[in-house]
Amino acid sequence: MTRRTYDSLRSARWFAPDDFRSFGHRSRVLQMGYGYEDWKGKPIIAIVNTWSDANQCHTHFKQRVEDVKRGVFQAGGFPLELPAISLSESMVKPTTMLYRNFLAMETEELLRSHPVDGAVLMGGCDKTTPGLTMGALSMGIPFIYLPAGPMLRGNWKGQVLGSGSDAFKYWDERRAGRLSDQAWFEMEAGIARSHGTCMTMGTAATMMGIAESIGFTLPGASSIPAADANHVRMSAECGRRIVDMVWDDLTPAKMLTRANFENGIACAMAMGCSTNAIIHLIAMSRRAGHPVSLADFDAFSRRVQVIANIRPSGDAYLMEDFFYAGGLRAMLERIRPHLQTEALTVNGKTIGENIAGAEVYNDDVIRPLDKPIYAEGALAVLRGNLAPDGVVIKPSAVAPHLLRHTGRALVFDDYPSLKKAVDDPELDVTGDDILVLRNAGPLGAGMPEWGMLPIPTKLLKQGVKDMLRLSDARMSGTSYGGCLLHCSPEAAIGGPLALVKTGDRITVDVPARTIHLEISDDEMAQRKAAWTPPPPRYERGYGWMFGRHIKQANEGCDFDFLETTFGKPVPEPDIF
Ligand code: FES
Repeated sequence: MTRRTYDSLRSARWFAPDDFRSFGHRSRVLQMGYGYEDWKGKPIIAIVNTWSDANQCHTHFKQRVEDVKRGVFQAGGFPLELPAISLSESMVKPTTMLYRNFLAMETEELLRSHPVDGAVLMGGCDKTTPGLTMGALSMGIPFIYLPAGPMLRGNWKGQVLGSGSDAFKYWDERRAGRLSDQAWFEMEAGIARSHGTCMTMGTAATMMGIAESIGFTLPGASSIPAADANHVRMSAECGRRIVDMVWDDLTPAKMLTRANFENGIACAMAMGCSTNAIIHLIAMSRRAGHPVSLADFDAFSRRVQVIANIRPSGDAYLMEDFFYAGGLRAMLERIRPHLQTEALTVNGKTIGENIAGAEVYNDDVIRPLDKPIYAEGALAVLRGNLAPDGVVIKPSAVAPHLLRHTGRALVFDDYPSLKKAVDDPELDVTGDDILVLRNAGPLGAGMPEWGMLPIPTKLLKQGVKDMLRLSDARMSGTSYGGCLLHCSPEAAIGGPLALVKTGDRITVDVPARTIHLEISDDEMAQRKAAWTPPPPRYERGYGWMFGRHIKQANEGCDFDFLETTFGKPVPEPDIF
């Protein structure tokens, strides 16, 4: 591999010339207290940090960024920390999904407008992994992704608690009157005990694992708990490695092929991933110019078994256990037959080399292929007259009797009316009905995680634990149950979901991958002719732009003007 020279680096355009503008750039670095020996003739490394006081999952990034800087200095680079929107999944409203593309735009423009040659991207909380990597892919300079890592296991009276999944479970218990206020408040203090991301196989753990399997992280990085000293050392290693990546000019264009993203899908399936993986991985692959589709997910789901026994698909373990059992490298070694092992990764080696010899230390946490958690993959994509562009379900988290089911639709146009109805003791509903929520898709509401529609209290008291629920929303990766999600096209643009009426019958057949609204084509056409679109949700600002440019879930929910196929490449900034 040919090593680059200093004069060929981007940052040299800012610092090397003997002209008036470069005088200004150099004097301003000296103003910060750095001497020439700190930065002259060295690659400049951006550290895009999503730390903030508002993101509980990234609190350790304030320290970890210093570890990354240490590594950059050790390897002969010069680090520049560039803060970006932190997107706390639990704090940001109405939904972080509204702002994933905002972070992607911010990342791309931060990297383009500053004198940087490579980047370390610090993220983990759900949307930060896709947001950061989408932006860096579009910018095209070498980058490494540094995953925040999962938090420690939750604990309540010696019982293990998992993020999200146990909160949902015990909230239903409380609504059914089976859990005291005292117990509920004790759980509140025990379910999130350290820095780091949700430690179930939610969207954060899913996306960090996918990032590693695509090749965006150092080997093993995604499984290390945030509070583990290994995480500190891995952070410094990211700093050292990115400097070499710059000299080697290991850009995304040189590193990535479609195989990298297909490995991401295989990994997602084996992990028992969050349904959100579909939207984000499609968006990331499209930014890289190697698009994958819903059909790819469904094809992989039919051949890759779920082998990570992590809640909510699994029944017992959490990400901390996954790390002790060997972590992602060991899991990928188990599914080696499903990987394209020649795909390159950020350490300059192939994924096959990176996982070679990785051992599983606990066969109950990372199952052998002949003892999977679920014989087929984590996700299924159904189509039919109700979802011509697909609806997604996580069969591994659904009560088996619901996988083939016909039921009566009970339709809600918005979340407030659903929320009000579910506590009504007189609600006309049975466990065989299918709850429907619409106008919660990308355009309708920014696609929030409303898709695990609450089971009506009346049914909970009767002992109903699961029922089919259909929407154009997403759901948290920590959720579970018979939830049919991302229904496309969404209701707000006139998709068939907008035409369903309470009392209609819907047939779902997961093994056959179909979903059907039991009305005639003529009836569907009449309803469509009578449909009128809802008023726009936002009439100014970022939301206004979002509403005009957001694409549908099956296309990854990116903005149309940020896709690689839109317009000409953005030029490097002028420096005058
Ligand atoms: Fe940050 Fe779940 S709230 S990962």
